[in-house]
Amino acid sequence: MAKVTGAARYTDDLVIAGAWYGKTIRSTVARGTIREITFDPGFDWSHVVVVTAADIPGDNVVHLIRDDQPALAARAIRHQGEPILLIAAPDRATLQAAERHVRVAYEPDPEPPVLTLDAATETYTTIEIAKGDVASAKADVVVERTFRVGLQEQLYIEPQGAIAYPGKDGGVTVIGSLQCPYYVHRALKRALKLIDQQVVVIQAETGGGFGGKEEYPSIVAIHAALLARKAGRPVRLIYDRHEDLAATTKRHPGVIRHRTGVKRDGTLIFQDITIVLDGGGYCTLTPVVLSRAAIHATGPYACPNVRIRARAVATNTPPNGAFRGFGAPQSLFAAELMVEHVAERLGVPSLDLRRQWMLRLGDTTATGQKLTESVSADVVLDAALKAAPAVRPSDRPTVRRGRGLSLVFHGSGFTGSGEKKLGGTVAVEALPDGTFRILTASTEIGQGTKTIFCQLAADALGVPIDRVTLAPQDTSLVPDSGPTVASRTAMIVGGLVQQAAAELKGRRVGKVEKSYIQPDTIHWDDQTYRGDAYPVYAWAATIADVEVDTVTGEVRVTDLVTAVDCGKALHPVMAEGQIEGGGLQAVGWATIEEIKMQDGRYLNDRLATYIIPTSLDAPRIRTILIENPYSGGPQGAKGIGELPMDGPAPAIIAAIHDATGVWIDEVPATAEKVLTALRNADCGLRNGTVGS
Ligand code: MOS
Repeated sequence: MAKVTGAARYTDDLVIAGAWYGKTIRSTVARGTIREITFDPGFDWSHVVVVTAADIPGDNVVHLIRDDQPALAARAIRHQGEPILLIAAPDRATLQAAERHVRVAYEPDPEPPVLTLDAATETYTTIEIAKGDVASAKADVVVERTFRVGLQEQLYIEPQGAIAYPGKDGGVTVIGSLQCPYYVHRALKRALKLIDQQVVVIQAETGGGFGGKEEYPSIVAIHAALLARKAGRPVRLIYDRHEDLAATTKRHPGVIRHRTGVKRDGTLIFQDITIVLDGGGYCTLTPVVLSRAAIHATGPYACPNVRIRARAVATNTPPNGAFRGFGAPQSLFAAELMVEHVAERLGVPSLDLRRQWMLRLGDTTATGQKLTESVSADVVLDAALKAAPAVRPSDRPTVRRGRGLSLVFHGSGFTGSGEKKLGGTVAVEALPDGTFRILTASTEIGQGTKTIFCQLAADALGVPIDRVTLAPQDTSLVPDSGPTVASRTAMIVGGLVQQAAAELKGRRVGKVEKSYIQPDTIHWDDQTYRGDAYPVYAWAATIADVEVDTVTGEVRVTDLVTAVDCGKALHPVMAEGQIEGGGLQAVGWATIEEIKMQDGRYLNDRLATYIIPTSLDAPRIRTILIENPYSGGPQGAKGIGELPMDGPAPAIIAAIHDATGVWIDEVPATAEKVLTALRNADCGLRNGTVGS
């Protein structure tokens, strides 16, 4: 209601008397060392606070997986836009003037910057998954193909921002736009050398995250806190769209190669897959993104012999990080198009091949996980086909229409032992006024956390929903429920809310706390990458209809049908919202969202040039919700946040092929790429054998 009426206060809406404005000064080179920072003596610096790496009281790292990323560069520069120093001033005019009077001089590196994945020599991490024996598997037909996927910006409606208040005890309170309060809490403790109680992190109303507010807010928070500490007053550090686009994390681009062996009758014999993802200048979350990419790389298919070799490399480009899907859209894109290529080679419909290969109850995945419940590949496929509109031929001579299909799965919750190690915690308390309050660090970022948590608690307590409220996402009040990521909030944290509420039922006072305990039927080995990679999977089939303008190369996605099994749609309207939003984000990734780079800098780092689909570009979206419950989820729920991002891109590329006869094995399939492919295949259109 607060959002609908405009009453909701986002970080930049918060009015704080006496707060100063902060700004980050960033590198203008992709690789080198800082030689000298000079402050123009002609400028009046008395009203400006300056923070450099030397002002960091704790470790100069952004705490995450690997300690490679400094909060502020002290010497070495690894990417364009890397934070070097911070300034704050009482007003924006002084801040802007001060910024113009700072000079950073660089020493170029003897080695040129590494700007593309193909040129990379440094590896962050590698993963190998092996099942059966690919080397000795005998196939009649072997198909090889290479796929490329591009960068993508999360483009949450509200840019990154945080406000920091210095505390009396030397501590700090940070309020900001974020997904994971305790990630920020840990990062602040480490960089500012503070203890638990000295750091308070509060989530402001947050205008979207999509993964982009999973790890990056730690940097914004550290910077705001450093400025506030030195200024001795609150400091607001709020990015404008340009800075946000230029400096924050993007979806990992990658190259995925498939070699697939089949018998003449289509039987799948082996899948040999290599994945290379570009991590950018620092590691951030790259190892876990790579892990999810690798585990999903086969697609939702049962194959006796699988080899997946995945590698993430370093380049001198801004770090890539979490983005809805977290590696799975990248590897599933390749897996799904590979089905198309094998089907084409065998001369059979790709639908038949999917039915032949798809994972069914009792089958094992690439990691050897036996699927024992809630497997819905066949159900979602049938439902999508049934709901698809009739194919209409184009009524314009230069426009061709086509249809494409995809089938995907997405692991719900953290990968491997993640949930077990994390032990996410929530509490539900009975208040004296007869209401109940949920204490959780899980955040609302537009996906509906607050609504479904209240529903689950109210149902379990047997009270009306208006008797249940949520405590603010404030680390001084709520336990660490783990981050709001990985399609885990409804299934894992919602499950804890339900359990705690059920135990509290009938009591008028008191509080019940619950921590996640992994079912003892789940086994995972981090060393060998064998076992139950996820507690369960969600499934989706997508049918995309496109129009390809053969004069301009433009692709218009006209219809998108998605059938999704998320176990239980706790709130069907919001579940559909997730699917529509994720679907549209995938349409953008597949067709028009292209980042151009020069010298390691994003060229289209403004909304005028970074183009996303608008309402006018949106296809007609039809969503079919299927409920095949998971015994470990609240009311049967699995994850739904990321899955809608996985299916549309390969379906759209297949639809472009259906329309034109050309394969574009990469996204985005921009007008330029489509037109080039059409010209290269020039006879394809004249012979009239293609189309729907
Ligand atoms: Mo996410 S991409 O698991 O926030």
